[in-house]
Amino acid sequence: MNPSAPPWICPSILAADFARLGEEVSDVLAAGADTIHFDVMDNHYVPNLSVGPLVLRALRKAGIDACIDVHLMVKPVDRLVEDFLAAGADYITVHPESTEHLHRTLSMITDGGAKAGLVFNPATPLSALEPVIDMLDLILIMSVNPGFGGQAFIPSSLDKLRQARHLIDASGRDIRLQIDGGIKIDNIGAAAAAGADAFVAGTAIFGANNYTDTISAMRDEIADA
Ligand code: DX5
Ligand code: ZN
Repeated sequence: MNPSAPPWICPSILAADFARLGEEVSDVLAAGADTIHFDVMDNHYVPNLSVGPLVLRALRKAGIDACIDVHLMVKPVDRLVEDFLAAGADYITVHPESTEHLHRTLSMITDGGAKAGLVFNPATPLSALEPVIDMLDLILIMSVNPGFGGQAFIPSSLDKLRQARHLIDASGRDIRLQIDGGIKIDNIGAAAAAGADAFVAGTAIFGANNYTDTISAMRDEIADA
């Protein structure tokens, strides 16, 4: 499904109650979320294990038709790109380190009818962007090292957001600039001011008592940035 206009609030399912995942996803959507951020971890590319395409398929089967952005932290990645295309991903975002042939992986995503994202770890320079920026619909800046929810935001991510914003504006393309890791009500404004227009938040949303109040407080901070 087509997502709303930015800014996007993207709750990460990693912090949801997995015993009630469908309900949790419906609840954050009703609370004003724009996309569902679906974190996939393989205990190889990152030192943690989460969920795979069966779970995405189950959400679709349960009637969740909102935009779902899949963040693949797996290596090798191509085999799972196919599975997530078939399972109903709207966006598929990959790490450049997870594939030997980035152009091929991004082509698989767009040829398969999804939108393509590229994600940069805190220690990964943006230099991989230049050859493929014309293939991208989303750039994700990691503000923690991938693998776990609940980590602290790394402040140097703000500089990287500014650099990425400059490159996106120079490209003239409609590319979302997403930030992921340690985003909360008190730092989301700084990320917005640095150029982000899509905000992943796991703990800050699913750990809150009231999803609607949390998401609307985040929107207020973004609007004021
Ligand atoms: C980290 C994941 C993030 C994470 C965000 O590897 O990509 O999406 O779950 O969680 P919080 O918001 O708790 O940092
Ligand atoms: Zn993520």
